[in-house]
Amino acid sequence: MRYVYLVLFFVVVLTVGVLGFRGSISTRPPLEVFPDMDRQSKYLPQDVSPFFADGRTDRPIPAGTVARGDLREDPHFYAGRSPGGDFVAGFPTDLTLDRQFIDRGRERYEIYCTPCHGSLGNGRGIVTNYGWGGPASLHIDLIRNQPEGEIFNTITHGKNTMFSLGDKLVPEDRWAVVAYVRALQRSQNGRVADVPASHQGDLN
Ligand code: HEC
Repeated sequence: MRYVYLVLFFVVVLTVGVLGFRGSISTRPPLEVFPDMDRQSKYLPQDVSPFFADGRTDRPIPAGTVARGDLREDPHFYAGRSPGGDFVAGFPTDLTLDRQFIDRGRERYEIYCTPCHGSLGNGRGIVTNYGWGGPASLHIDLIRNQPEGEIFNTITHGKNTMFSLGDKLVPEDRWAVVAYVRALQRSQNGRVADVPASHQGDLN
């Protein structure tokens, strides 16, 4: 019987010892079994340092420093916008809009856009077989009348329920997709007058 009381006593002491002081405030530092390098002698961003004359840990960029990688200075090419921030109609002039470019756009379109917008661009991609009616038809007037820069922007950042594809397509490929979207739009809105006069007779 004595042992039962003894065991009970230790259980009570252990329970209170471990759980009883949870949440209470102490001025003494906690016991750290694994400190995990929590405290290091290092400078944090925007900290103060007596070491430098201006008292800042952040060092100013030396004059004449050249940015590494891409400066992304051209707002038309990288954002589809004018310097004033409006969407630009037309393609950046350093791109060559040839067959190869459109083919590249078609290939990228069929990988990244077809599942939702369909290979015709009519918004009936495979996802609609599974109950999602969301994807827009690319042949509606709204999108046909949008400046190229706006479509580029939709690809870069997404729109409402369409996620962004900026991380999947480099800017040049995004422009190629825009070119292919334009080609699709033409294909679905052809008129007799678009056919060369010499071939109009072949239509029936
Ligand atoms: C996950 C499905 C999905 C994918 C992939 C997708 N879209 Fe969309 N897209 C949508 C949906 C949904 C909308 C309608 C968004 C809304 O509610 O306005 C849309 C809208 C658009 C619009 C119209 C935006 C506007 O101004 O209303 C364009 C243009 C467009 N998509 C182009 C593309 C292109 C080009 C690609 C491939 C690079 C692509 N989308 C890939 C789902 C998708």
